[in-house]
Amino acid sequence: MIKYAIRGGNPLSGEVTIGGAKNAALGIIVAAIMANEPVTIENIPDVDDVKVLLEAIETIGAIVERIDASTVRINGALINDTSVDQDAIRKIRGSYYLVGALLGKYKKALVALPGGCQIGSRPIDQHIKGFEQLGAKVSIHHGKIDAKADQLTGNHIYLDCPSVGATINIMMAACLAQGKTIIENPAKEPHIVDVANFLNSMGANIRGAGTDAIRIRGVDRLHGSEYSIIPDQIEAGTFMLMVAATKGDVLIKNVIPKHLEAISAKLTEIGCKVTEYDDCVRVAASDKLSYANVKTMPYPGFPTDMQPQMTTLLALSQGTSIVTETIFETRFKYVSELRRMGSNITVEGNAAFITGVDGLTGADVSAPDLRAGAALVIAGLAADGFTYVDQVHYIERGYENFEKKIRSIGGRIEKIDADDEREVRKFQMKVS
Ligand code: UD1
Repeated sequence: MIKYAIRGGNPLSGEVTIGGAKNAALGIIVAAIMANEPVTIENIPDVDDVKVLLEAIETIGAIVERIDASTVRINGALINDTSVDQDAIRKIRGSYYLVGALLGKYKKALVALPGGCQIGSRPIDQHIKGFEQLGAKVSIHHGKIDAKADQLTGNHIYLDCPSVGATINIMMAACLAQGKTIIENPAKEPHIVDVANFLNSMGANIRGAGTDAIRIRGVDRLHGSEYSIIPDQIEAGTFMLMVAATKGDVLIKNVIPKHLEAISAKLTEIGCKVTEYDDCVRVAASDKLSYANVKTMPYPGFPTDMQPQMTTLLALSQGTSIVTETIFETRFKYVSELRRMGSNITVEGNAAFITGVDGLTGADVSAPDLRAGAALVIAGLAADGFTYVDQVHYIERGYENFEKKIRSIGGRIEKIDADDEREVRKFQMKVS
């Protein structure tokens, strides 16, 4: 089985560069098919979710040209099918954006229900409500979302919860609806603003993304564009916490410090030094970190996608911390794995009670999902001895060149076939 083999105990140091935002890229790649002209997208992260989505749009007739590792050109002029249902797209979350884009452009879409990490029930009722309020008929049958409309008409849509996916999906469909749409109580995450900016670069008329109300005036068509995706807030945050957990000192480049404020504030609170520059942050950890209480909230609050990494860091901080998860119901599945490494954490309901320990010890652990997988890698890098993390495919869905980037700042990590004794011994000898 392919695993990350890690020898912990090395403080990370040097510089690391963050890639494009995965969750923005998923929205932007799909939005690109709404134009009948070429759209060039730069700073696309080289992660598996992106590859799956690019293949999905190719199968319905979009032309996808890979210019280089982080640039693609997409042309949606020759799309000949509005039905998307491959095995691969059923496993990712961002596939739900195909409904908004195809419904907006062709007034119909038949798309397999989305998958993604098993971190809660993850309903899509707000997406459906939004499409219906724009005039579509939506039903779910045989595992697919079926949306159709004679025409879409702008409306006043109030989201019951600030859903990232629903906000982007409704925004895409409303771009090509007749008249004006207002989305109240939208999500405000940085990638909402990025997708809106991208759609505007294609000729859409969207105002207020990132605020409490998004106003969209429908246009007849979208045109070609060139666009560069924002840096990944969660990849950057993961490296920040990784540096802190290993007591390192690293300059994290190509970030937007404003997007990292909730993370920087917590790191400062527990005793790390965080220095912000124009497009980079430096994190330097002191010897002893202290406890903190953290509650996940929609942006600009502390991101749920950073919760497992933060819990891991607090497991190594002095005192008792409480981490409360308010977005997804079952996002503490990784805690049993952290316990195998010597952490002292109990979970009650939606809160983890963490009593800091002096150190963790390496163990064989399994990544239950994408961000929890990254958290276990952080634990392994901080732990004494060898850690082997399996189910690395979850991690590769969202982190580009993860182990290479970690190695570049001194982390001892390699992807190996752990069933092959020689590979295990080779790694152990290399890092001894
Ligand atoms: C997106 C991100 C994911 C991140 C999450 C929250 C992508 C591909 N994924 O997921 O990484 O963890 O935002 O920042 O961008 N909800 C409903 N009904 C709906 C939609 C959502 O009740 O129709 C609830 C969810 O159960 C959850 C909350 O709203 O409690 C937020 O979910 P949402 O923002 O939609 O998350 P995703 O778009 O699935």
